[in-house]
Amino acid sequence: MGLLEGKTILVTGILTDQSLAFSIAERAQIEGATVIASGFGRGLSLTRRVLRKLPTEPELIELDVTDEDQLAAAAAAVAALTPKLDGLVHAIGFAPADCLGSGMLTASSADAATAFQISSYSLAALCRSFLPLLEASGSASVVGLDFDASVAWPLYDWMGVVKASLESLSRYLARDLGSKNIRCNLVAAGPIRTMAAKSIPGFSTFEDNWAASAPLGWDVTDAGPVASATVALLSDLFPATTGEIVHVDGGVHAISAIGSAGYS
Ligand SMILES: NC(=O)c1ccc[n+]([C@@H]2O[C@H](COP(=O)([O-])OP(=O)(O)OC[C@H]3O[C@@H](n4cnc5c(N)ncnc54)[C@H](O)[C@@H]3O)[C@@H](O)[C@H]2O)c1
Repeated sequence: MGLLEGKTILVTGILTDQSLAFSIAERAQIEGATVIASGFGRGLSLTRRVLRKLPTEPELIELDVTDEDQLAAAAAAVAALTPKLDGLVHAIGFAPADCLGSGMLTASSADAATAFQISSYSLAALCRSFLPLLEASGSASVVGLDFDASVAWPLYDWMGVVKASLESLSRYLARDLGSKNIRCNLVAAGPIRTMAAKSIPGFSTFEDNWAASAPLGWDVTDAGPVASATVALLSDLFPATTGEIVHVDGGVHAISAIGSAGYS
């Protein structure tokens, strides 16, 4: 029996077959889940095409997380498909160009706010909108995707600040949703070559250095480890874990940046 047998999971953020969310949806289906996907704006037709590559083509709903009407309509559309949601995957990130790669002193507050609204606040917006369906599960799991925000990285700039807020938000959601038996956790992934990652100027700096620093090594083209950790958190294997950040980064977060390579 698969780890997610009998569970229905909403997976946001599938844009291409490189998207972390695509690998998560694929793995979730292999583990027996019914997946519902959401797509956004001009990428919706691309998402529709990509979904055909999954083992089973999921239902697709439209959802721009900045649009309150779409949040309400998406909740109604999902409620028409299922009486309960056992899992919700937040795999959504966007920052305007001046928030990335040019230091902290150039982005306008409006652009930083946009990055925050789409990449962090939206986790709360999703939980609010889908709360009745998550509650109906009796044991639901929300998982978001993080990039370790405990240190300042090169180039990541305002997105790093936004990820720090996502980490905090996940803990507050864990606090508020625990009594409804809804867990909220993050997977802090190492760099994977996706559309969002390619929009970070100098992303190759991460690509070039990560594998050398990671005790376990790292493959920027393989989202499999991120998908399997996410599926584990969606499953019943972590019933008492919430407000947690699981690092799936080859071990880089645990290693000093000074002389991180070469201890073997
Ligand atoms: N790729 C990496 O190296 C990496 C590492 C750690 C964490 N992450 C995180 O993983 C998540 C998924 O990103 P990805 O790397 O798979 O890239 P991706 O480009 O495949 O996915 C980003 C998704 O965000 C969606 N999106 C953007 N604005 C939206 C909006 N207003 N409403 C709804 N959806 C919107 C896009 O449609 C897209 O599907 C992001 O939170 C990202 O920060 C990525």
